[in-house]
Amino acid sequence: MFVTFEGVDGAGKSTLIATLSGRLHASGASVLVTREPGDGEFGKEVRGLLLDRHVCPEAELFLFLADRSEHVRNTIRPALERGDIVLCDRYGDSTVVYQGFARGFDIAMLKELNAFATGNLVPDRTFVLDLDPSEATKRRTKGDRLDLETNEFHQKVRDGFLSLAREEPSRFVVLDAAVTTESLVDQVLNSWPT
Ligand code: TYD
Repeated sequence: MFVTFEGVDGAGKSTLIATLSGRLHASGASVLVTREPGDGEFGKEVRGLLLDRHVCPEAELFLFLADRSEHVRNTIRPALERGDIVLCDRYGDSTVVYQGFARGFDIAMLKELNAFATGNLVPDRTFVLDLDPSEATKRRTKGDRLDLETNEFHQKVRDGFLSLAREEPSRFVVLDAAVTTESLVDQVLNSWPT
């Protein structure tokens, strides 16, 4: 089972994933929690390149895609083959939204690049944590390069995720992120893919 979590920066994905994985573990499930850009060796280097220095938008796109290819091949697919539940903090939809809806690259091209980069691995379910960008800004603590984008940028990100969710209602579930983590976990489990 491959489940991804998306949303504006600061929507609370990592807290939700940590709590959810605890609940799943407690029920005896085997769970892998992972993220993009990845936290393996390759992903750490990509993350460093992306977040610490100025990279042109085209190079930025290819770094996210390169990270995703490595991540799918070396981490996600092996875990799915073992029968694990994979919970991933951001995946291909982040590329479509950040590099497409927000930065202006062609959406259809980005979807094709994602399909190529992942060998067509599509999540069974994608939860979008939806939150007003000004509320998300208040919650953010890190202040890295992407976190410092304008409010207009974050608004485009929010609208982009909502638009993808409307296009593909069988995969996406949009959750109002302005509620407690426990309530979010309950809603996620109620919309669990079968
Ligand atoms: P990160 O610190 O992981 O943000 P967060 O903890 O909020 O997920 O930084 C990832 C940033 O990179 C985040 O702003 C979203 C952005 N991003 C893209 O622009 N394209 C992508 O394909 C991915 C995976 C992330």
